[in-house]
Amino acid sequence: MRILSVETSCDDTAVALVEASKNNFSVIDSLISSQIKVHAPFGGVVPNLAAREHLRNLPMMLKKFFRRNKISSENIDLVAVTQGPGLIPALLVGTNAAKAISCAWKKPLVGVHHIAGHIYANFVGEKPKNMEIAFPVLALVVSGGHTELILMKKHLNYKIVGETLDDAAGEAFDKVARILGLGYPGGPAVSANAEKFPIFPPTGDHPQGGKIQNPKFSLPRPMINSNNLDFSFSGLKTAVLYTVRDNPKILKNRKLIARLCFEFQQAVVDVLVHKTIRAAKKYKPGSILLGGGVSANKELRKQLGEEIKNLLSNTKYKIPAAGYSLDNAAMIAVAGYYQFKLAKNKKKFNDNWKNLEAEADLGLR
Ligand code: KG4
Ligand code: ZN
Repeated sequence: MRILSVETSCDDTAVALVEASKNNFSVIDSLISSQIKVHAPFGGVVPNLAAREHLRNLPMMLKKFFRRNKISSENIDLVAVTQGPGLIPALLVGTNAAKAISCAWKKPLVGVHHIAGHIYANFVGEKPKNMEIAFPVLALVVSGGHTELILMKKHLNYKIVGETLDDAAGEAFDKVARILGLGYPGGPAVSANAEKFPIFPPTGDHPQGGKIQNPKFSLPRPMINSNNLDFSFSGLKTAVLYTVRDNPKILKNRKLIARLCFEFQQAVVDVLVHKTIRAAKKYKPGSILLGGGVSANKELRKQLGEEIKNLLSNTKYKIPAAGYSLDNAAMIAVAGYYQFKLAKNKKKFNDNWKNLEAEADLGLR
């Protein structure tokens, strides 16, 4: 089955062509056009500018994509598109393009939840034997808009068991980068700076749990010991703001910026790892999956993997292949494939070009 997919929920315009056979998802082609340069001067994504860029880019990308992959109505079986959540003006561009293709070429159309896409990003390009994930699955999805622990008893069955009460982890990275003058998007900039900080053995345990590297810039680990699986990152961002306010020389000193980035990143990783392990002890998943833009963070990937190995040796751990942590359309194709394959009534997808509506706050179901 060949799936054509489109993703325009935020500031990346993405299209992909994925071949699904016996649960093996090979990406025939994937295109992503980033709008970073457009939004960088504003320090964040401007929804109407994002929509304008999608509108400018998507038709040209599709034309190029169709030509170079010789795509026609004859060799596509399914169209998948991100239906939500996301910025409504941005989502409308992708959903309308997908609806037009589905209508003109008489192909079934599946609307995909963006977070489901991030979970299924773990299977992009996988070999069939690696696809055999053990349920229940516990997924930690960390992106610019979401920080969620999701329990899946089977495919497409989602229960949110923990989530952020305020900022998402990626949002906190972006805001801290702004405070430190590191530009947008913040995650890659903060983690690149954190890497510059020479790593000494931890000097001790943080009073709230986790490691402590540098007592001078010690930051809180919000909610790390709370008796639930929720998160909070806005206080951590404010703690960085106050640290800079009280030590303005930080902003003029690259080494101090690197130190603070290191401590901030470690604080986020400590909380994410701690809560994921806590959830795993409670729900005893067969597999733990990581997804979302923040899953590109090397320390998060590594430290979560180490803790799972140390504490939950029977639990499988999967992370997205390089290039599929951040927003992309291949992940939408894989999630769309499962929605189509497992649906009892497949005919309903034929009319979706009439019915599908973009939803900014689409719930995970
Ligand atoms: O999933 P994504 O591409 O878009 C949303 O769905 O939001 O995630 C983007 C987020 C941004 O907040 C970005 O700063 C963060 O992922 N991010 C990172 C890294 N790369 C991207 N955060 C931490 N470390 C990274 N290496
Ligand atoms: Zn995303």
